Amino acid sequence: MGKNKGGNVPKHVAIIMDGNGRWARKRVMPRFMGHRQGVKALKSAVRYASNQGIATLTVYAFSTENWQRPQEEVTFLLDLMNKTFVQEIDELFRENVRIVLVGDRESVSPEILEVWDSAEKRTAENTGLTLNVAFNYGARQELVKATQLIAEKVLTGEMNLGDITSDCISESLYTAHSPDPDLIIRTGGEMRLSNFLLWQAAYSEIVVMDVLWPDFNEKHFSHALDEYSQRERRFGKVPVKE
Ligand code: IPE
Ligand code: IPE
Ligand code: MG
Repeated sequence: MGKNKGGNVPKHVAIIMDGNGRWARKRVMPRFMGHRQGVKALKSAVRYASNQGIATLTVYAFSTENWQRPQEEVTFLLDLMNKTFVQEIDELFRENVRIVLVGDRESVSPEILEVWDSAEKRTAENTGLTLNVAFNYGARQELVKATQLIAEKVLTGEMNLGDITSDCISESLYTAHSPDPDLIIRTGGEMRLSNFLLWQAAYSEIVVMDVLWPDFNEKHFSHALDEYSQRERRFGKVPVKE
């Protein structure tokens, strides 16, 4: 697949990978089969993003609310995440991908933390695509955590109230190392953010697609990039040619 036609490639694309359960249900399969197939779609999306020259890809893999799913689905998803990292880490390393886990580390098991840490450490010096994996991620939890960090600095005198700026908040989030997403793609057709990147999405372009995540391929990705390149981003200003 060639480079995006419009030439206006977003620096940071974030994806809400939704629709695994529906994909499975349509085939009269258990939900977990949809999650397993979803990993294949993720692998091809990572490769495609990298080939298109996108600098950062953030994928929503498991939300802070997803713990409320049936125990067996949660266990399956945690296990799938671990296995996928173990299986894919060599190839991701070779492809020069830098992996960063964005999410709450405090409430996950030491076994999972170990897998996260080793994936991050192994790829920390890579200079290609930055792949932010949002796992145990919730934007409200992220903002609560950032608020606590900032409040602590004010209390200890390390910072003054006046130092709390918009940049200071951005720098206190899990995504501090990344620019705000230019484009957010949501598969599965729902028109909502589901607690994803609430602060960072202030001026993101949003493309919602009906395709279910396991079916998402290069053609869909390319379509979303084309759609993005046709958007006029005004950031609250008046149109350029008026
Ligand atoms: C997205 O697919 C994957 C996760 C949230 C982990 P879903 O499992 O939400 O699939 P649907 O929305 O029920 O089809
Ligand atoms: C959002 O999908 C979370 C992920 C894709 C990981 P959900 O399926 O959890 O969101 P809702 O419940 O439809 O809002
Ligand atoms: Mg869903």
